[in-house]
Amino acid sequence: MQLPSAVLLAASALPLVAQVRYLPERKLWVLQTPHTSYILGVNEQNEIQNLYWGKKLPRDADLAPAHTARDYAFESPEGMTNEEYPGWGGMRYTEPCLKVTLSDGVRDLVLKYASHRTAGDMLEIRLKDIRYELYVTLRYELYPGSDVLRKQTVIENRTGASLVVESAQSGVWYVPSGGGYRLSYLTGRWGGETQLTREPVQPGRKVLESRRGNTSHQANPWFALDYQGAASEEHGKVWCGALGWSGNWKLTVEQTPNQQVRVTGGYNDFDFGYLLKPGEMLETPSFYGSFTDQGFGEASRILHAFEREHLLPDRRQPHPRPVLYNSWEATTFHVNEAGQKELAAKAARIGVELFVMDDGWFGKRNDDHAGLGDWYVNPQKFPNGLGDLIRYVNGLGMKFGLWVEPEMVNPDSDLYRQHPDWAIHFPGRPRTEGRHQLILNLARNDVKEHIFSVVDKLLTENHIEFLKWDMNRHFTEPGWPEVPAAEQKRIWVKYVTNVYEIIDRLRAGHPGLEIESCSGGGGRVDPEILRRVDQVWTSDNTEAFDRLRIQEGFGFAYTPKVMMDWVTDVPNMNGRSTTLKYRFLVAMMGSLGIGANLNHWSSEDFALAAKMVAYYKEIRHSVQEGRLYRLFSPREGELTANEYVSTDGKQAVLFAFLHSQQFLRPAPTIYLRGLEESGVYRLKALDDKLVDRVETVSGAYLMNHGLNLRLGGDYDSTSVLMERAE
Ligand code: GLA
Repeated sequence: MQLPSAVLLAASALPLVAQVRYLPERKLWVLQTPHTSYILGVNEQNEIQNLYWGKKLPRDADLAPAHTARDYAFESPEGMTNEEYPGWGGMRYTEPCLKVTLSDGVRDLVLKYASHRTAGDMLEIRLKDIRYELYVTLRYELYPGSDVLRKQTVIENRTGASLVVESAQSGVWYVPSGGGYRLSYLTGRWGGETQLTREPVQPGRKVLESRRGNTSHQANPWFALDYQGAASEEHGKVWCGALGWSGNWKLTVEQTPNQQVRVTGGYNDFDFGYLLKPGEMLETPSFYGSFTDQGFGEASRILHAFEREHLLPDRRQPHPRPVLYNSWEATTFHVNEAGQKELAAKAARIGVELFVMDDGWFGKRNDDHAGLGDWYVNPQKFPNGLGDLIRYVNGLGMKFGLWVEPEMVNPDSDLYRQHPDWAIHFPGRPRTEGRHQLILNLARNDVKEHIFSVVDKLLTENHIEFLKWDMNRHFTEPGWPEVPAAEQKRIWVKYVTNVYEIIDRLRAGHPGLEIESCSGGGGRVDPEILRRVDQVWTSDNTEAFDRLRIQEGFGFAYTPKVMMDWVTDVPNMNGRSTTLKYRFLVAMMGSLGIGANLNHWSSEDFALAAKMVAYYKEIRHSVQEGRLYRLFSPREGELTANEYVSTDGKQAVLFAFLHSQQFLRPAPTIYLRGLEESGVYRLKALDDKLVDRVETVSGAYLMNHGLNLRLGGDYDSTSVLMERAE
């Protein structure tokens, strides 16, 4: 049986056997995670072939060397020989991993094995073109205790002349041969991110991508494949992958004429054309993959644990996400010292730990037409600077956080009047505004340094412990006129790596600083941004019922620990109203925040909020660090139910939401999961919704008899806490 990720974490403390092995007589590399094997070989033509990715194959003697397939006139060998990193050259018609134009016009690239080295959990295989000094290093990394494998590629130009990289992919994942796979992926829009979408993989190609300069709301770089739709939450083989890149990305899901399904991922090759000068290297994004035979639930839990243990900034010393208050929906741009203090005092009363002031505090920012770029404190709104407010917030026992959007500029700003050339543009062409703003060209070193120093100064002069880092529009007219035309397309890569660099330097210079990645909601969420931010803003849509779908999709790829949720006022943006309890319970399934206007709350609201925040603090280690079980999906019926089990198995918490009730039908029985059959659990219901008056019951009861809940009407909700008693 596959162990839950929590048990694996404990196992990771054990001394490790080498996970990467080379079998020289068969020219095979065996990469092994606790439950999976990934096998590569060199064939007679010196090509690297992917031979296997799936459940662990423990017996080396079973493994055969790689073989070249026969030549065909019209059906190329692709699909029978799964080339690990195909260049575009020779008889290859599927999505290539690398496509180049060399200085002499040659557009043929055939990569062959040159050398390799293994070091601990790393494998590097070096490839070279059959004629040109163009090298590609395939990097593989394994992580102790995790079933996740990372692929990344470095392309190196030693030809002595510039070349143009037209497509640079991080790699390709192959599943066992055959038609009939099902693809799961995440799509959406602003206000409706991360919607789980499913469809059969058909012959041809399906492209998931962003051409917008950041990760995007419209699609997220995660996929999962299962065979014939046979996998469920608990059972079945699932192969999944996620690409770490916060710029233009592309996943190509392809079924070849030989019925081989392959998923290629890396930089989006649309408008790519990256000029690689002699001696230069281009690194591709990290492409993560994992396999489980325990269904989609375990596939998600593997990713969640991996993100917490190996990506997030607090990976070495994990600590809980604080309960935060954010002023945006309460005040919008109308912030001032007195108003923020009033909200802070009320937030402190209900147990908030981090108070975040959102947009409107700087420059001439009274609405979204002006001010971006002028990162000085608005003297009318804050005559004493931010110092008084921050001291007040700290005095209430809360940390202080601030909203910034450093990558942007409003044409109506001092910065733009001084440096109109700093905005991304093509000379003499329109500059399309989004939310009345333009994007600063962070690919330029001077702009990058300016942005770094502005934010660094803010952090140095004020006791700010948290930044909400926003990006409120996508790219248009991506010109970079200061560099030669042939180099301008590098903007797509350089912009993003410079955003990463700025954040990395700010964090290094201000230890203890925490950051939330926001892009008008969940527009910048991917594994690479998670290496440098502590949480993400999931969606500007804070309406609790809509959130069930957004959060479900989010959880397929990302840990609830980073999923920020606010309790806000009703009727919400879509006009829907749910109770305050319902809104709290939805928001408590991730990192809890409150974004309501506390000045409008009644004393009953405050009392309920204080109770819910206290409840959240009791369960948050299970929600944030534990194992998530999706019991009922909001996509499938009238009930949504999720369960979180703490890593030590001592606590479990159930959240249940009825969408609407018709014909007085009772809600279905909920079977818990992931508990100890023989363990005894003490039940604490949040309210009176438990049908059976049980107080202590066994894990076997909870998982086999299940719980019946008295839920009725529209948008009813409840939660049950289960603590291990014996
Ligand atoms: C974006 C964010 C919001 C808020 C506003 C402020 O839309 O997603 O949460 O910060 O900007 O302008």
